[in-house]
Amino acid sequence: MLKIVFASNNRHKLEEISKLISELPITILTLRDIGWTDEIPEDFETFEQNAYQKASTIYNHTGLPCFADDSGLEVEALNGLPGVRSARFSVSRYPDIPDNERDKFNNMLLLEMMQKETNRRAQFRTVICFIKDGKPLYFEGTVKGVIADEPIGKEGFGYDPLFIPDGYNVTFAQMPMEQKNLFSHRAKAVEKFIYYLKSHLVAK
Ligand code: IMP
Repeated sequence: MLKIVFASNNRHKLEEISKLISELPITILTLRDIGWTDEIPEDFETFEQNAYQKASTIYNHTGLPCFADDSGLEVEALNGLPGVRSARFSVSRYPDIPDNERDKFNNMLLLEMMQKETNRRAQFRTVICFIKDGKPLYFEGTVKGVIADEPIGKEGFGYDPLFIPDGYNVTFAQMPMEQKNLFSHRAKAVEKFIYYLKSHLVAK
């Protein structure tokens, strides 16, 4: 059985990926499984660099094939912001709020910055970096849409209440998770990665 380390402890992401690869002879180990407790910095300027940093740190530690992901929202009128700063976008403006309120304040700041903007185009993007035999490979997924005028919906997380994907007139936060997972940026990147695993690693 091939062992691959996922450089993350995010239970939701692990569940999603595990489901998709359940028929392959692959075991996914998490950071917890390999006893890794340190923070891995994610302070680079691109999703690719952040994903590489996480994957390579763990690859160098274990020698096992390893992958990591990094995602965020890129808004055209803001030159790609919040981008790699998506998770902590509002920290300098609103420093003293609890972690579980962060998404709400991120959305609030984004709407403030978009107040006078007529171009509301945006995309979510995920990059997965997979390292095997010392070489990085990248798999990308995007979903395009527009930023709503106000947050709507209770599902999901992050910027979901503000993001209306192309072809829909509801936000990600108004969709059941199963529906979003059919065409989300993360799902598309994971699909490409799994296709690669099936055709390159498992077949051989
Ligand atoms: P991560 O790299 O997947 O942990 O994502 C970083 C940040 O990007 C999250 O904390 C969210 O603010 C934002 N983000 C990423 N994916 C999504 C999504 O599917 N919906 C809403 N926000 C997202």
